[in-house]
Amino acid sequence: MFETLQTLPADAILGIMMLYRADSDPNRVDLSVGVYQDDAGRTPVLECVKRAEAAIFAEQDTKTYVAIAGNAGFNRGAEELLYGSNHPAIEEGRVATIQAPGGSGALSVAGHLIARARPGARVYLSDPSWPNHLPLLKLAGLTIEQYPYYDYAAHGIRFEAMLAALEKVEAGESVLLHGCCHNPCGADLSPEQWQALTALFERRGIVPFIDLAYQGLSESLDADAYGVRLMTERLPEVVVVSSCSKNLGLYRERVGTVSIVSRSRKERDAVFSNLSNVARGLYSMPPDHGAAIVERVLHTPELRSLWEQELGTMRQRINGLRQLLVDELRARDVPMDFSFIAKERGMFSFLGIEKEQVIELREKFHVYMVESSRINLAGINAKNSDYVADSIAAVLKR
Ligand code: LMR
Repeated sequence: MFETLQTLPADAILGIMMLYRADSDPNRVDLSVGVYQDDAGRTPVLECVKRAEAAIFAEQDTKTYVAIAGNAGFNRGAEELLYGSNHPAIEEGRVATIQAPGGSGALSVAGHLIARARPGARVYLSDPSWPNHLPLLKLAGLTIEQYPYYDYAAHGIRFEAMLAALEKVEAGESVLLHGCCHNPCGADLSPEQWQALTALFERRGIVPFIDLAYQGLSESLDADAYGVRLMTERLPEVVVVSSCSKNLGLYRERVGTVSIVSRSRKERDAVFSNLSNVARGLYSMPPDHGAAIVERVLHTPELRSLWEQELGTMRQRINGLRQLLVDELRARDVPMDFSFIAKERGMFSFLGIEKEQVIELREKFHVYMVESSRINLAGINAKNSDYVADSIAAVLKR
């Protein structure tokens, strides 16, 4: 049977993470996978998570199944984070939310649901997008197209070109948007751009498919949900997938949600039963532990405010590192202007250097980044910032 299979190239992101882990050089620096690191280079378990976990371990008296849709308290809390409290779509009973195994599990469930509702449906991804969007949604049975997004020369969004391309999308097709902290480019839609897209989607009957994997890591929990809330207010149907990997540091616990806004309560019920049926067919039930932690954090006032403090610390550190890197590179008189990095948001930016330079940074200087030159800013710290800037300057000046 399996002689038909060929060995595939390593994953564009996780392959680099593995190369880094296999490198024992004392100067090695990991700017690859999108995982938060503190100034000591660690990815700690948040204190709010530790406390919630301790309470769960003390109280939990069964490991029986929860439900296909996962933890109901978690799903309610996740809806409030996404849409804010008292959102009309929730009050009107038009939102169906289920827990999923991480943001990727959520994307997969949403993809299967769209493919079931619209066989052969086209979904439009930004150029560029997270490299896993394409294979993941293709595997769900969708046809993938692209729309222009990042201008590598001007370091901004090609908004006019994006609008022009999306004018051609047909009614009932969907466009995947990054809710905030665009992965990989860090260039986010402004409120005015969200408004213009909402008007276009409304006019053309396009269904937004919003991936909100970094809520709270750009400006704030509420500001980062601006696009989700606006589109949900103005459009009849919206698909939202979210993740607690980054903003709660729960990476390996696999916690995410798929949340679908429908036109009526009746359609919501059909969506919910199909979401549950897709999840049952794919993995039966999501893992419980991470969602149980988030449920507690969201519904226990002191844990919730501790989380917001810890999230604020992560956000401020990343935003500060953006300016630090720009300053460090400027001080080395490099032949490129990196000031755009300070204006972008979230964990990632493209350095905008050549692939050969990325490889040289990895092989000669032990500085690891994705081959597209995407860096995770959170991998920079007080101990390695000089070394990172020296290494980049060295490959640029050659
Ligand atoms: C990333 O983009 O580095 C993260 O979202 C991790 C992943 O799974 O790719």
